[in-house]
Amino acid sequence: MLAINSIYFPSPRILEKVITLYVPKRSGTACLLRNGLEKQRRRSNHSIMDETRTVPETGTESNTTPAATPPLDPNRKVVMDVRNITKSLPLGRERIDILKGISFEILSSEFVSIVGPSGSGKSTLLGIIAGLDNPTSGQVLIDGVDITRMGEGRLASVRNNKIGMVFQAYNLIPTLTAQENVEVPLYVGKHKGLPSVRAKELLTLVGLSHRLSHRPTQLSGGEQQRVAIARALATDPAFVIADEPTGNLDAKNGENVLKLIADLRDRTGKTFIIATHDPEVARHADRAIRIVDGLIASIDNIGGRNTQ
Ligand SMILES: Nc1ncnc2c1ncn2[C@@H]1O[C@H](COP(=O)(O)OP(=O)(O)O)[C@@H](O)[C@H]1O
Ligand SMILES: [Mg+2]
Repeated sequence: MLAINSIYFPSPRILEKVITLYVPKRSGTACLLRNGLEKQRRRSNHSIMDETRTVPETGTESNTTPAATPPLDPNRKVVMDVRNITKSLPLGRERIDILKGISFEILSSEFVSIVGPSGSGKSTLLGIIAGLDNPTSGQVLIDGVDITRMGEGRLASVRNNKIGMVFQAYNLIPTLTAQENVEVPLYVGKHKGLPSVRAKELLTLVGLSHRLSHRPTQLSGGEQQRVAIARALATDPAFVIADEPTGNLDAKNGENVLKLIADLRDRTGKTFIIATHDPEVARHADRAIRIVDGLIASIDNIGGRNTQ
């Protein structure tokens, strides 16, 4: 039995990072987790493979797409519209401009990489499009709604329902098994199905049906990242956003994780956005948005999948 209780989470730092994605600040995370556990147990079984995925209408046109951008497939919907994002932060008496006006659109079921050298602003940008951080100016429209203007409560709901996150260092809860780690997001908010059943399905989807009861220390880096990807998919989000998902992996395991992402995109129809400093990693995506010094330097179609 999975015991969701603060006693079982000796690493508050990791737990906080995971839970921050799903619950409002000041909402009593442990209480929500405990209540959610009981509610989810009572719910009926549900299979992720039976779901009909609905891609939201946005109907929004961006005026800020760079002129050099290849045209996007007009038959596919724009699911995220990023408009002229800037981010500056105080640094001593000065301010540093981290993002200086970033605009792009993401289509449904796209696999997009955001690529650029270390310090170019990739993680800052991912934090903003995932609703974890506010821009200084600009908009991020998901389902046609600007998430940069939302209150924390609604934003937490958007993160919980629409966005799954994957981190470079996996950020699994060390005292929980693989299956329990995948269940965690399902104890917050309303979700169909029994978390244990769904977690098993997702771990099977990422090729880990034989590792359900292993704890993170008993798994290889590649396996841990697969668990983290399964966890990101748990709430059936429209987007999976991954920051340097292969950064801690050797070449072979990194390649396997990228193949898994491409395969999951094909099988689930979800939109995957990854950030990477490595151009070779970026080439696995359909499109690479290259950022240099807080600005878009180029947008390249790799497989021709999204061009007209
Ligand atoms: N909270 C912060 N305070 C000051 N500078 C920051 C902060 N977060 C990021 N930066 C700076 O912004 C730049 C971009 O950071 P980041 O988005 O992490 O880049 P990347 O992910 O591309 O390596 C870096 O120069 C970094 O030092
Ligand atoms: Mg980074």
